Amino acid sequence: MSSEIFWRINTEKSSEDKPMGEKHAPAIALPAQVKAGDKFKVRVFVGGGKHPNLSEHHIQWVELRVDGLYVARAEFAAVITEPEVEFTVVCPHRKFTEVSALARCNLHGLWESKATLSFVE
Ligand SMILES: [Fe+2]
Repeated sequence: MSSEIFWRINTEKSSEDKPMGEKHAPAIALPAQVKAGDKFKVRVFVGGGKHPNLSEHHIQWVELRVDGLYVARAEFAAVITEPEVEFTVVCPHRKFTEVSALARCNLHGLWESKATLSFVE
């Protein structure tokens, strides 16, 4: 495998290897709608059980961003934790539109997914 995978942020769409993309691109679960100023949960999970969780190959961390701004990070110890996490987020106003998650695999680099926030009136 080329080391180029470490020199970019990969996405499921940009991956030339579909199973590789499915195993690494973080899945983001958001409420259908959120209200400005109220807490909501953002669940992020990687691999859907298909990504290895071994000391030599595992997901090291997941980072959450809102409109590209860092908001939270979870780190995972190999073998003993699964790369699944739930963050509690508050967006103070409706200006925010996008939630993104970045995951890092120690063998396959950075992977990003994005989801759109929908606000109730
Ligand atoms: Fe991997």
